[in-house]
Amino acid sequence: MKKSLEDANVSLSSTFEELRRRSRFIETILTNISTGVIVIDRAGRIAMINKVAELILSIKTDKVLGKPYKEVVREEHYETVRTLSREVGETPGRKVERQVDLSVRGKEISLRVSVTSLTGDDGEYMGLVVAFDDLSQAMRLQRIMAWREVARRIAHEIRNPLTPIQLSTERLQKKFAPSHDHDPAFSECTQTILSEVGSLKSLVEEFTRFARMPAPAFKEGNLVEELRPIVETFRAAHSGIAWEFEEEEIPTVWFDPFQIRRAVTNLLENAASALGGQGRVVVRVAHEPVLGSVRVSVQDDGPGIPADDRDRLFEPYFSRKEGGTGLGLAIVSAIASDHQGTVVVRDNTPRGAVFEIEIPVRPKRRG
Ligand SMILES: Nc1ncnc2c1ncn2[C@@H]1O[C@H](COP(=O)(O)OP(=O)(O)OP(=O)(O)O)[C@@H](O)[C@H]1O
Ligand SMILES: [Mg+2]
Repeated sequence: MKKSLEDANVSLSSTFEELRRRSRFIETILTNISTGVIVIDRAGRIAMINKVAELILSIKTDKVLGKPYKEVVREEHYETVRTLSREVGETPGRKVERQVDLSVRGKEISLRVSVTSLTGDDGEYMGLVVAFDDLSQAMRLQRIMAWREVARRIAHEIRNPLTPIQLSTERLQKKFAPSHDHDPAFSECTQTILSEVGSLKSLVEEFTRFARMPAPAFKEGNLVEELRPIVETFRAAHSGIAWEFEEEEIPTVWFDPFQIRRAVTNLLENAASALGGQGRVVVRVAHEPVLGSVRVSVQDDGPGIPADDRDRLFEPYFSRKEGGTGLGLAIVSAIASDHQGTVVVRDNTPRGAVFEIEIPVRPKRRG
């Protein structure tokens, strides 16, 4: 009797352990996928929200967990949610997909939402799973592609006449300067033309570099070793800022060293200028085994990003800086997507901004 009780006990605790392991596994997946997931139980209460859903919808899990979703949904979103849940109904396994445009804290977002009705083994209704992807990222990419094309054409149209303007002005100078040396206007004007042509040329250069970003030349390598020297350089150049480099054990990664260095340098430059010479920047390299990706995050305790700017931050030519090109983050975004990855920004706590570049350890073959 005692023996069989013990056996039962052992088998029970191993079953529990197995259950716990599985639920941890599922939790890890739900935390790490880039899709927002909300689970609603059969009584219409919110049973689970993952991190991405929190971020996309800007909600706090502890405020809404266990509450009826009808109470939690904001008034302006209520109609959308009601239509979707009515369409799915309580029909077993039924799934409805829609593109939904919402405004969250004044920011317009575009989501692809899929709602699935959950059923138990015996066919009874168990609740709903709502999964959604932020399409804004994909749309941002499209905008960047369009901008690249514009930049390419502008660069082309401007560059062509610049050299003849420069050469003709130099010729004028040579030919007429000796006979006009009593008139300062002549040399001033020709000098102005030459220096303006010079700045147009460097602008065109910037445009061209952005428009013609070559496809990444992937190499397998050590990302940490690639990034550490960059942080060292910034440490030497900005001594008022505490530069920290935190690394995890990460596998070798396939990436274009030149481009990834360029992307991270852009983020560090932005952090340094946001801090204005004083503060703390933490660069972290982490491995996400479940997703098969690595993440480089750059965290500063500067002023952070105003909510109104957030949408346009990655757009080319958006800058709040005097003399800024606004190409920095557009380039970061293009490099991340050329590596089949993403870049996102979020608020740092208690203050500042965090930029995260996430790329797969090994890119998928395209085509
Ligand atoms: N870490 C940060 N903290 C606060 N604001 C930031 C941060 N990084 C970027 N920004 C904001 O995003 C804007 C766009 O950045 P981006 O790198 O694209 O261009 P830029 O830095 O203005 O110009 P450039 O890169 O040519 O110097 C910045 O002007 C700034 O307002
Ligand atoms: Mg910048």
